[in-house]
Amino acid sequence: MTDTKTVLEEREGRVAVLTINRPDKLNALNQQVRDDMLEILQRLEGDDAVGAVVITGAGEKAFIAGADIGEFEGRSPFDQRHAMRSPRVFDVMSTFPKPVIAMINGFCLGGGCELAMSCDLRVASEKARFGQPEINLGLIPGGGGTQRLPRLVGTGHALRLILTGDMVGAAEAERIGLVEMVVPHDELRAKTLELAAKIAAKSPLTLRVAKEAVRASESLALEDGIRYERDLFCLCFSSEDKQEGVDAFLAKRPAEWKGR
Ligand code: COA
Repeated sequence: MTDTKTVLEEREGRVAVLTINRPDKLNALNQQVRDDMLEILQRLEGDDAVGAVVITGAGEKAFIAGADIGEFEGRSPFDQRHAMRSPRVFDVMSTFPKPVIAMINGFCLGGGCELAMSCDLRVASEKARFGQPEINLGLIPGGGGTQRLPRLVGTGHALRLILTGDMVGAAEAERIGLVEMVVPHDELRAKTLELAAKIAAKSPLTLRVAKEAVRASESLALEDGIRYERDLFCLCFSSEDKQEGVDAFLAKRPAEWKGR
């Protein structure tokens, strides 16, 4: 395990597991965590041994309980704007060229919920609790929550969560589409790593293109998105992995991906 200041990094085969490590502050996102995350993600992007990334929080209580509220004290709007300058970890994760999975082990609030929503998939412990409580601080979500939450759960549920600041449990989060899987707490790591390993075993090149196509649906009109998908689909015909995938299917053998 490699230690940066606030984020622990481990490898499980082709999966990199990043653990936000401020359990005494419920893994609240401060500037150091965001900087460490950006540095690690930049390194993992170029690491061919990594096929997928899992993000979780240290300790038994929290995934991430939001932005570090202590940092808001006494900050001017200019200081805050500087702290929110690009590149932002939320956007880097949603456009990261490898799948990113949130392994949600407890409180998933505010910026933590926004970080989870920036991931490609969310697996939650049945103990996890979700919410956008910024309204109780005289704030609104600032890590993309007003935009990503309605896209995941619809405008009505997004407004309910953002306007009340209420928390919902894992079962309700799954019902409204905020998480894709809920598992028993003691199976969270095994189930998440199983999912991550299955994905990481696919062609890295094709994973990248598939994610790019689906992410494009968040900003393109349907007609433009369909056209973009067609172009990316045809681009896959230039890859060795498309040749290998088709050859392997016809020869009734497992494919051996090269990432080219
Ligand atoms: N920023 C900074 N510190 C935070 C934090 C945050 N978002 N969330 C929790 N902490 C700190 C607490 O201040 C406390 O620190 P202390 O021991 O030095 O006093 C520690 O983490 C443990 O939290 P505590 O509140 O004692 O735990 P709890 O089990 O009683 O309550 C929560 C858990 C999640 C309900 C509560 O911590 C909370 O409401 N956190 C803020 C959530 C939020 O508003 N997030 C959005 C921020 S924009």
